[in-house]
Amino acid sequence: MPATVVVGTQWGDEGKGKLTDLLAKEMSMVVRYQGGHNAGHTIVVDGEIYILQLIPSGILYEHVTPVIGNGVVVHPGVMLREIDTLESKGIDCSRLRLSGNAHLIMPYHEEIDALTERRLGKNKLGTTKSGIGPTYADKANRIGLRVQDLLDPKIFRQKLDVVLKEKNNVLAKIFNRLPKQADEIASLYLDEYLPRIRPLITDTVNLVHDALEGGEHVLFEGAQATFLDLDHGTYPFVTSSNPVAGGACVGAGIGPLHINRVIGIAKGYVTRVGSGPFPTELLGDEADQLIEWAEEFGSVTGRRRRVGWFDTVMMRHAARLNSLTELMVGKIDKLDQFDVIKVCVAYDIDGRVVRDLPYHQSELHRAKPIYEELPGWKSDLSSAYEPDHLPKEAHDFIELLQRECGVPINTVAVGRARDQFVHFAASL
Ligand code: IMO
Ligand code: MG
Repeated sequence: MPATVVVGTQWGDEGKGKLTDLLAKEMSMVVRYQGGHNAGHTIVVDGEIYILQLIPSGILYEHVTPVIGNGVVVHPGVMLREIDTLESKGIDCSRLRLSGNAHLIMPYHEEIDALTERRLGKNKLGTTKSGIGPTYADKANRIGLRVQDLLDPKIFRQKLDVVLKEKNNVLAKIFNRLPKQADEIASLYLDEYLPRIRPLITDTVNLVHDALEGGEHVLFEGAQATFLDLDHGTYPFVTSSNPVAGGACVGAGIGPLHINRVIGIAKGYVTRVGSGPFPTELLGDEADQLIEWAEEFGSVTGRRRRVGWFDTVMMRHAARLNSLTELMVGKIDKLDQFDVIKVCVAYDIDGRVVRDLPYHQSELHRAKPIYEELPGWKSDLSSAYEPDHLPKEAHDFIELLQRECGVPINTVAVGRARDQFVHFAASL
């Protein structure tokens, strides 16, 4: 019963969609275990671009059962829009399974997310404004509505009435907004959404266990990333769930001993959207250059991403937090044009050389990267598909990452298309 977790090791947008799609070929089930439509996983097949926010990346393979686990927060409207887009491209979504225990993102969650960001002004987190934080907060506060509540309209309405009283108070008294109407919300969720999502609602915990017990290979697809993790990321500039590999246990209902492989996804440099510390961040011309060459704009929000050099201090920590068994490094072709490529191997914090991620975040804010500099390969990697096709400088770069991170790199991606990979291991 092989179970593999795919986890982002930086601040998101590492290319998890493309790499999950590559792995999904060999899987019979792909399970999302946390997050919601704050994710944006891009897959390019035959020139067609698919951006998946909520639906697991395995959806593009007919033999894969895509599962949205209990740990995910679900906006049914967004999910249905995504289904419609996929179906208009000929992808059958009837195989999708949705946990009855997943929490629902409600209209007030989105509104409160956006209003809170606005109120915070320059202290804002830079959230995706999709209601993720407020939905997880209600879950922890035990006032959330779950997918299974939709199946009992009376209970749904009762719970909605109770919670809406509180939310409308917040909207009116803190944000000076009009109240939300329970009738409108109930009609949207029960009359419009429910008939379409009812056939998808499943006991996904038993579904996953049946697959594992049947010897099927299950992939757990993390959204966001290690340093956006609520517990282990750069709090408060994080998301409100646990993307780390351990989150797969909670968010899908499996024990830790089920997991036998954890693949970390990184890109050959680092990006971040939203606020928070970023030791290797580039500013000025160097940043403009990388953003232009790498087209670093959000796949869903269109926001310009912050960019910086690869940081092995963070990666060594990510390896520990996730028990990484291997790494896949995406987008190394985006570095094709650089004369010099830098890799951060340690930090200078107040004159001390530090190789471990400081636990005190104010130190991370002061950390100055210590770089190892490598000559760039100055050539186009996009058509490479075997290790021999890569120039020596690219091998040196990959070897340095491997050595400094202490994790074997089994694959690098050299372009957006499904087949633009170089594998180092004999099999995936
Ligand atoms: P994928 O799965 C990059 C960031 C937001 C913000 C913080 C909190 O595509 O890698 P939230 O809306 O989750 O409350 O925002 O987390 N963030 C992401 N950054 N990729 C993502 O997903 C992200 N999901 C959330 O920019 O800084
Ligand atoms: Mg993204």
